Amino acid sequence: MSPLVEIIRRKIAEHGVLSFARFMEQALYCPNSGYYEVKKDSPGRRGDFYTSVSAGELFGQLLAFQFAAWLDELMTFKPQPSTLNLCEAGAHDGRLAADILKWLQAHRPELSALLEYCIIEPSARRQECQKATLKNFAPRVRWFSNFSGWVGRDSVEPSRHGVIFSNELLDAMPVHRFGWDAKNQEWFEWGVALEGDQFVWARCSGSLAPQGGGRAGARGTFENSPSSIFHLPSSLLKVLPDGYTIETCPAAENWWREAAAILERGRLLTIDYGLTNDELFSPGRARGTLRAYFRHHATDDVLANPGEQDLTAHVNFSTIQSAGEGCGLKTETFSSQAQFLTRIAERIFRNPESFGEWGAKQNRQFQTLTHPEHLGRAFRVLIQSR
Ligand SMILES: C[S@@+](CC[C@H](N)C(=O)[O-])C[C@H]1O[C@@H](n2cnc3c(N)ncnc32)[C@H](O)[C@@H]1O
Repeated sequence: MSPLVEIIRRKIAEHGVLSFARFMEQALYCPNSGYYEVKKDSPGRRGDFYTSVSAGELFGQLLAFQFAAWLDELMTFKPQPSTLNLCEAGAHDGRLAADILKWLQAHRPELSALLEYCIIEPSARRQECQKATLKNFAPRVRWFSNFSGWVGRDSVEPSRHGVIFSNELLDAMPVHRFGWDAKNQEWFEWGVALEGDQFVWARCSGSLAPQGGGRAGARGTFENSPSSIFHLPSSLLKVLPDGYTIETCPAAENWWREAAAILERGRLLTIDYGLTNDELFSPGRARGTLRAYFRHHATDDVLANPGEQDLTAHVNFSTIQSAGEGCGLKTETFSSQAQFLTRIAERIFRNPESFGEWGAKQNRQFQTLTHPEHLGRAFRVLIQSR
């Protein structure tokens, strides 16, 4: 039995049914044995599935081109900031950071000289791996395990003027999984129990407050339930099928609020696959969006092999957008990755010498990044600004 399985079994023995969010947190991030802790990086591909970063360096170069334009804009404000910040969260193996920094150094050296690159990464192991990838950019890059580490502790706080961004971060945050009990018109939370040697789905005990009701769940899970997050109209709940399943991700919303609080001036951007509320509450999504990826294949068996498979759920962009707007950010763009990158490429094509080489290799990468059947449609971009 793997040490991680043993840890999860112990938690179930202590707490009874474990919320799925706790299970997912352990499966992905348990020190020394969670998926992102032990995962070996394979060059070109991110192990169990393919990301925009693995398509090649063009993705980072296009982002760098766009970030440079936003940073130029910040330099027009008075008083002019003396340093600017690019802050990436969840940098995984550091490759995207390397692609961005390399392009900026080659094409915008004067801007590069004003820049600090901060990486928010809670995993010490991941930080080590990123430091190895980024050794050539060493003095310019700083690491923090979270946003609170950024404030006050270090000798010089990083600038709060710049761009905070992430690629495929929010989909990797632990989700709560809820089912709809049509008879009782209430949500229940799915958790994980042990049956023999197997992890199995089980309802968390303690019922949740009905829609619009004021009674908190016996286990305090009420605040994470769809009732409190989605404000669903009773007309929808009346027709929601029994067992309808949906995830909520308070961790992603809280993370977005923390990032918004750090940003004094600039942009907050995330790229990920995800849906809006309207798209989530559709008959085709009745089983939720939670998936496991194991050796390049998607599987619904999310409780199998903890630590050996990636677990992920679609980002709910409506809740993320509201979280940012609640912190005073303005939503600038919510679009597909194809639309976002095509707008950048249009500006490059009008002024090709501002970018650098664009030949057959770049065309191939651009197609992978923007084609609707590849990464262009499923991946979306949310940009908010202050
Ligand atoms: C799916 S990977 C990111 C993929 C990578 N950005 C890419 O484009 O290939 C998720 C990463 O987020 C990190 N992570 C998890 N929780 C985080 C948090 N709260 N803040 C920052 N990074 C986090 C993980 O350690 C892991 O490195």
